[in-house]
Amino acid sequence: MPTRQPGEIKPRVYWVGVIDWDRRLFDALIPLPDGTSYNSYLIMGSEKTALIDTVDPTMEEVLISHLNQLEVENIDYLVANHAEQDHSGTIPRVLERYPQVKVVCTPKCKGMLIDLLLIPEDKFITVDDKETISLGDRTLEFIHAPWVHWPETMLTYLREDGILFSCDFFGSHLATTDLYVADEGQAYEAAKRYYAEIMMPFRTNIQKNLERIKDCAINIIAPSHGPMHDKPEFIVEAYHRWAFGEPKNIVVLPYISMHDSTRKMVEYLVEALAQRGVTVKQFDLTVTDLGKLAMSLVDAATIVIGAPTVLAGPHPNVVYAAFLVNALRPNLKFASIIGSYGWGGRTVEQLTGMIPNLKVELLDPVLSKGLPKDADFRALDNLADTIAEKHKEHLAQE
Ligand code: FEO
Repeated sequence: MPTRQPGEIKPRVYWVGVIDWDRRLFDALIPLPDGTSYNSYLIMGSEKTALIDTVDPTMEEVLISHLNQLEVENIDYLVANHAEQDHSGTIPRVLERYPQVKVVCTPKCKGMLIDLLLIPEDKFITVDDKETISLGDRTLEFIHAPWVHWPETMLTYLREDGILFSCDFFGSHLATTDLYVADEGQAYEAAKRYYAEIMMPFRTNIQKNLERIKDCAINIIAPSHGPMHDKPEFIVEAYHRWAFGEPKNIVVLPYISMHDSTRKMVEYLVEALAQRGVTVKQFDLTVTDLGKLAMSLVDAATIVIGAPTVLAGPHPNVVYAAFLVNALRPNLKFASIIGSYGWGGRTVEQLTGMIPNLKVELLDPVLSKGLPKDADFRALDNLADTIAEKHKEHLAQE
């Protein structure tokens, strides 16, 4: 059950969102080990009232009850920073409760909200980049921020209070009773997971949007998931590291093993790399949390995929992981494949064909027929040598 009550951020500026403690999957894909929140914010200006985003439609009555609790009789503007349904899905219910509301969004978002939620065209006001709306004693400034992580997204900046309502940007899937980040370690991990899963495919757009908010004097970052940041430099600096940082001396090694041949090769390579001073993050895909795998890709320079051969190709769980890695577009520099086969197959060709988005140099694969033998272990030593040398040659030394 949602438990957090509306919270005052500044005089007449409230968090009115919902905590979803028990949600464990987003988009029927992304694991949520710590639940999430859908943050909605209410600004009661001296003349007009604005609601920033809504909540997931499964929780719509909680948002309405929060507005009733604050005795909100009138809302003039409903700012839709983003059309995705976890923030927009309760717009129809808010329009039903407050029929005079105008939905404020980018022109692209308007089209998407009409398509996704069948909102009537006459309910909208579209705003240009940097356009403002006055609430009387307060001013909303809209900053178009495409591709964090959909094309229609914008941020809303409350000038007088220095609050940036940043939508998914700087967000984290983290259910907590705290309005603001209280445990920086936990918040960092949740935000990095969120960045890896949602933002990393759009890294160059993230870089541009980080530049765009440089001129805003920000006291508070109020994202649409997770706790707010009253020390905004914490999350802004983390985003700078993730989006602009160069890959580190790290190998990510997702693998599957059916009869221990690939496992023996993985264990040997991990040890060989460690002896050469390379950090390795090993993931058995039968048990791994895909969010952890995604997070590890933020900083890594190399991926080595471990796969046994099934039905003449890579194991299907490895295919799934390779598809995800390709979709996440991490800033990797090198890739290789290790694994085993019984009598033949096209595991290497199929896997390398699945990762065209990775701008990597492919290093010689090592495939063993059945259990690895001396020649296979020597080939793994060579691969470890090559990776260690490539990292020394191409990565900034710390
Ligand atoms: Fe939290 Fe892209 O929606």
